[in-house]
Amino acid sequence: MTQWFAHRGVSIAKPENTMAAFKLAEEKGADGIELDVQLTRDNKVIVMHDLSINRTTNGRGTIRSKTWDDLKKLDAGSWFGGTYEPIPLLEDVVSWLSGNTLLVNIELKGPLKTMPDLIRAVKNIVEPALPASRVIISSFHHPTVVSLHEEWKEPEKALLVSSGLYKPLRYLQQAEVFSLHVKRQTISDKEMVELMEQGITVRVFTVNDEKALQRLINLQVDGIMTDHGILPITLSH
Ligand code: G3P
Ligand code: CA
Repeated sequence: MTQWFAHRGVSIAKPENTMAAFKLAEEKGADGIELDVQLTRDNKVIVMHDLSINRTTNGRGTIRSKTWDDLKKLDAGSWFGGTYEPIPLLEDVVSWLSGNTLLVNIELKGPLKTMPDLIRAVKNIVEPALPASRVIISSFHHPTVVSLHEEWKEPEKALLVSSGLYKPLRYLQQAEVFSLHVKRQTISDKEMVELMEQGITVRVFTVNDEKALQRLINLQVDGIMTDHGILPITLSH
């Protein structure tokens, strides 16, 4: 059964990576949420996609140049045309998740030099609060996924792939424990089916078009990241 992940929350309807977008995912019946995490200058884990705060808040600058005190009063909602939304801390999202049954895919973002600290900080926040069976951690930087696995065995890890499959497949063969989160345009139907036949969990991002979503359901992919959170409407045939 294909699982539905709300990409940055239901980011088609609410400002991405905010509690409003995550809560809507639960309301809509998504199986899980996907979110991006980064470290502030004082090593707080915040939920945001870009390295800079310019696009999604009313502030300016990079996340790494800011402390949590600098960021906590910023507005991460109005840019989207809505009302004020705070930037969430990962610990706040995890606390909310501990009261429901959603899965969470945490994508490690930010400068590579922050990855060791980010891995430790994410583990410290998530491990005591959520069962590992509800957690998937992913990164486009595959050596980071390997380091993460060495440090924290239990949760599922996923290699994010937005270009050729050759390198990630080497990692998959070495570790035999990683899943693949792959950009739809990067992979053919045949390749996906072959990978799943080999026992690899394949989730696909970021798909919003209804026909493309239906095609993925028919292929029985393991998971879909969509800004809608779930299949948006019933398709007419
Ligand atoms: O999890 C897949 C997707 O979130 C990766 O791309 O740029 O939306 O973080 P991006
Ligand atoms: Ca992401």
